[in-house]
Amino acid sequence: MNEQDSHSTGGEVTPTGEFGSSAVRLDEGHVVGDGGIPERFENPGFAPHIHRGADLDEVAAKRAERSVGGLFVISILGTLGFIVAYFAIDERVTMFVPGIGQTNALHLVLGVTMAASLLGIGFGAVQWAKTLMPDEEEVEMRHPMRSADEHREGFVAILGDGAETSHLNRRPLIKYAMGGALGLFAVPVVLPLIGGLGPMPGDALSVTFWNGEKEEDGKYPNKPLRLMRDPQNTPIKASEVTIGSVFHVMPEGLLDLEHHLLEEKGKAAVLVMRLDPDDIKSQKEKDWGHQGIVAYSKICTHVGCPVGLYEQQTHHLLCPCHQSTFDVTQDCKVIFGPAKRPLPQLPITVDDEGYLISKGPFKEATGPSFWERGSA
Ligand code: FES
Repeated sequence: MNEQDSHSTGGEVTPTGEFGSSAVRLDEGHVVGDGGIPERFENPGFAPHIHRGADLDEVAAKRAERSVGGLFVISILGTLGFIVAYFAIDERVTMFVPGIGQTNALHLVLGVTMAASLLGIGFGAVQWAKTLMPDEEEVEMRHPMRSADEHREGFVAILGDGAETSHLNRRPLIKYAMGGALGLFAVPVVLPLIGGLGPMPGDALSVTFWNGEKEEDGKYPNKPLRLMRDPQNTPIKASEVTIGSVFHVMPEGLLDLEHHLLEEKGKAAVLVMRLDPDDIKSQKEKDWGHQGIVAYSKICTHVGCPVGLYEQQTHHLLCPCHQSTFDVTQDCKVIFGPAKRPLPQLPITVDDEGYLISKGPFKEATGPSFWERGSA
């Protein structure tokens, strides 16, 4: 039998005739025909429908409704307990559990409350389906993968009637309890993910070693620091920087550290070079430099590669990764490539002994600018 040709509910099989009148016969569940239709089909039959208590008695229905709502409320309590435990219980606290012994209290409580949260939703849904949802048996014959247009439209209409047939509007307790249970259930899933991201970056992206060490009041000293050769860790006299030369520089004290060295170096690395002051087109660049000596962040503002190549003749700095090119005579503005902002300049001067020192930290963040929407 081509099952597409018939629709059956409640023990009746009705031909639709879509495959011709000779294709289908129905009598006691036996079907004979041609056109590729099986010669025999055994109708499994349908058990007589037995009404449940909640179908016949509104008191029983109310009782079932309360039990479903109660299960969803258990889920809500489990979820709330999970949230409270997550914040309130120190993860170092242990407790004794018979049969298990000493165990981590936080993990135990999180597990129990999460179980209550999940089981409350699960049992509530099952109880709802078993006691209150319509339970008439329905058989839908197999159809081609793509339904006929009229069936598709019918399906949309059925979906539209979903709220009505599920009795949600008539069972506000279930509606709101289930909504609360499902909504809150997302919290324990998301909370550990957010917590696992670690602390907020704070000012870590905009502060470098040139700002100095954070003080107790949360401020930075921003004191002058000597410019030190990297990796020799020796100070540089202004007289040593000749036109055309380039120095790789770190702030004084950074190379003495052992911890967080790589991370700090990545943000604080600087290139120092001397230009003929007449070649410098920007007054700000002259003011932030010293007699043609200028210092710029070495970290490309595209995605953070070290800018490694200086063209003496053109005064261009090139990034090897994606060929961003910065003009040193014009505040290191981008003249080619994907970088979107100039390399930040470090204001410098000299101390009493003629060594190059910073006049203060960078005035803007160094490195990639993808998180700085305003300046990109
Ligand atoms: S990282 Fe420098 S151009 Fe891409």
